Amino acid sequence: MDPSTGRAPAHAAAHELLFVNARQVVTCAGPARARRGAEMGDAGILEGTAVLTAGGVIRALGSERDLIAAHHGAAIIDCRGGVLTPGFVDSHTHAIFGRPRYEEQELRAAGVGYMEIARRGGGIHASVRDLRSRSEDDLVALAIPRLRRLAASGVTTVEVKSGYGLTLDDELKALRAIRRLAAEVPLRLIPTFLGAHEVPLEHRGSSARRDEYIRLVVEEMIPRVAHDGLARFADVFCEPGVYTVSESRKILAAARANGLLLKLHADELEAGGGAELAAEMGATSADHLAAISERGVESLAHAGTVATLLPATMIFLGKTRQAPARALIDAGVPVALATDFNPGTSPTVNFPLLLTLGVSQLHLSAAEALIAGTVNGAAALALAGETGQIAPGFSADLALHAVEDARELPYWFGDRRCIGSWIRGKACHPYDLPVS
Ligand code: NIG
Ligand code: FE
Repeated sequence: MDPSTGRAPAHAAAHELLFVNARQVVTCAGPARARRGAEMGDAGILEGTAVLTAGGVIRALGSERDLIAAHHGAAIIDCRGGVLTPGFVDSHTHAIFGRPRYEEQELRAAGVGYMEIARRGGGIHASVRDLRSRSEDDLVALAIPRLRRLAASGVTTVEVKSGYGLTLDDELKALRAIRRLAAEVPLRLIPTFLGAHEVPLEHRGSSARRDEYIRLVVEEMIPRVAHDGLARFADVFCEPGVYTVSESRKILAAARANGLLLKLHADELEAGGGAELAAEMGATSADHLAAISERGVESLAHAGTVATLLPATMIFLGKTRQAPARALIDAGVPVALATDFNPGTSPTVNFPLLLTLGVSQLHLSAAEALIAGTVNGAAALALAGETGQIAPGFSADLALHAVEDARELPYWFGDRRCIGSWIRGKACHPYDLPVS
């Protein structure tokens, strides 16, 4: 804005983009907060609508003719008869890791459970050993192509957790790598401190050694992470056999006192009061929840905590159980979908696959799955006022897909139809394939 005239300067027109010729625009437009209950069933799908962005922000939706006439300097983006959605929000990943852990997949297939692999020193411990041996540069280099593949599936915002370091220096190394990645990949990255992802092997064997690690997290890691501005959220793996509810409460309380927002890995494999704790602590989201109890559902509904469901994890672990998404929605809990991208339990960077699993495994409608992957993902990151919908004032975070109907997004199982994406109005994924 030119303060002397109150009008946009002449060059601003050059930054205007006009998205035309979309068969459908999935706006997800509505209040800038998590959607719950019946609200989740309305993805605000419009036809015959063009979208104008300027300066990285969505300015207007309207008829193609009117917007072209009023903004003749705008660059035209031909959506080629495809479907335009808000950029997807992947609100739960562990994208900073070293080597993949493919050997565990075969072990599980042979009947060795996830927790048993961890008890043998594998699982998270294997990734911890690996990450500790790597440099920050190495972690950045490994993450770039992984995050680019996530972007190629239509994702524009990604939460990334630390949690494979489990020493002050190694956790800081992971978080600094995330900060550097924000300049390397065209994505909005939201960092989460997960120093309580496991109790490291060197702190096992006695309750004093275990308590010493929790003291380290609470008194050294959290204050340093908060002081250095390296994370927006803190998270804990609260699960029988990992961190107890009372240990998790202590860690979350310290994080909150240091100004961090809260998330919780809760009730993933066993109902242990994790969801109730997330609600009690005012966490922004409670994640996993495949084993949530009825009381847990009620607590989340009462607190307004977002339930972030990660169905790919259960599928990859070979489990038949999934989080009770319908019961959560019926109880008024806002539901989000995320990949849980990590080397142990969910090595996928295919966000549309999550939409498929949302419908086929969690019994959501296509519209509910789309809301769960956009607005509610944004709410799970306290970003519902910034991204997740195609409406004036929101960040110009968009994804264009080579389909003719939004219901095809969950339908093409395992496929990726994203042909272009934009973050803050800047192209972040190639826009070069024909719409088929
Ligand atoms: O969300 N549940 C804890 N953390 C990850 C798994 C991490 C790993 O196995 O490396 C999860 O599934
Ligand atoms: Fe996780």
